[in-house]
Amino acid sequence: MTENKTFTSNFGAIMAAVGSAVGLGNIWRFPYVCGKYGGGAFLIVYLIFVFLLGMVIMLSEFIIGRRSQHGPALAFNHLVPQRPRWRLVGLLGIITCFCILSQYFVLSGWTLGYFVQSITGSLSKLGTDAAAISSNFSQFSTSAWASSCYLVIFGIATMAIILCGVQKGIEGVSKVLMPILILLLLVLCVRSLTLPGASKGLQYLFSPDFTKLTSEGLLAALGQALFSLSVGMGVMIVYGSYIPVSDNLMKTTLWITISDTLIAVLAGIAIFPAVFSYGFDPAGGPGLVYCVLPNVFNSMGSSSIIFSSIFFLFLAVAALTSAISLLEGITSWACERFNWRRVRATVTVALITLGVGVILSLSNGAVPTLQLFSKSLFDFIDGVNSILLPPLSALATMIFVMWIIDSRHLRDELTNHGQLRAAYYPAFRFLGRYIVPLALIIVLLTGLFG
Ligand code: PHE
Repeated sequence: MTENKTFTSNFGAIMAAVGSAVGLGNIWRFPYVCGKYGGGAFLIVYLIFVFLLGMVIMLSEFIIGRRSQHGPALAFNHLVPQRPRWRLVGLLGIITCFCILSQYFVLSGWTLGYFVQSITGSLSKLGTDAAAISSNFSQFSTSAWASSCYLVIFGIATMAIILCGVQKGIEGVSKVLMPILILLLLVLCVRSLTLPGASKGLQYLFSPDFTKLTSEGLLAALGQALFSLSVGMGVMIVYGSYIPVSDNLMKTTLWITISDTLIAVLAGIAIFPAVFSYGFDPAGGPGLVYCVLPNVFNSMGSSSIIFSSIFFLFLAVAALTSAISLLEGITSWACERFNWRRVRATVTVALITLGVGVILSLSNGAVPTLQLFSKSLFDFIDGVNSILLPPLSALATMIFVMWIIDSRHLRDELTNHGQLRAAYYPAFRFLGRYIVPLALIIVLLTGLFG
């Protein structure tokens, strides 16, 4: 089979990239940090960061990919052959991708496990006993077998999609799964909003409280913006190389950013009104999804199985399309770097990341000796993934695009070789040269020493 490495249409490219962007970050992180750091106040800052900074990084990554027609292994050298060291930035992106995917596989396995627990009714049997629900989660997440098995099943599904190629696999699956995901989300929103007392949840999410918007909140907003848009890991460089040459990169980026942000806000609308309506306290991360929400679903009585199954299916689909992009990022790197065929690269990369994923999962409790710097390996990687690698890799990429390569590459890609107008170019250049790097340096320094 000859591999055709471009998305077939603009719609397909957008669906694939939105699939990458919409993931666990939108569902279990965004709504919580939004409520915690001042609701509407946080939202305003988040929107500014996403549309001014995140979009500039995404557009820059697309430019590198589409201009060079390569992924991170070769793109950097292709654009500045006289300075071969810059290829290390590509490598940094792939290392970031690898660390995130190994951890993402663990979290994604949990979503699958909870979907099965929901649909078989074993989750609803726990009733509204908060202690039983929490201990169910800690037993599951620290178990050696159950969590590893789900992780491996999830990983194999991801690998199978990548093996089907860019058009049939990534694009085809995203075009089907993303509309399903939106449908599931809308069902959950309607259920949540029609519960009595739903407005309290909306108030938590949206009413602006600027006193809660601390400097910590600002950093959380920027970190969330980068993670949510999947930038700083080379993934968007790879997807950029698959975007048809006739597409308007700015428009594509705008669509992805709007969709990602809208879905994050809708996830908040699906979750918090229900949480407040049943009188629970909001929490973030795994605590929200695996301890608070099962209790909320079980409070719904006879419909609990339906809504918890829809929710965990929604979560698993969101995680799958993000994992696809991460695995594709590393696979395309391995193909280019070692000149491997796609099948060999995909299987090798999937097996290695799954192996590391299982080790991380075991370090959560089953094998407590798996530690680094007196933290479980899972927590260690979590720290590296949230404060160090993504902003560092995004910073290096921005310096490369804005200061190292010839600006002709940017103009040509943004105007499709003179066919489009790009009146925003001076603003893009200014933000990309000064403001984005400055913001990333602040995030990095505060993450490391703050
Ligand atoms: N954007 C995804 C999320 O919100 C995570 C992700 C990061 C996916 C980087 C791919 C690359 O969960």
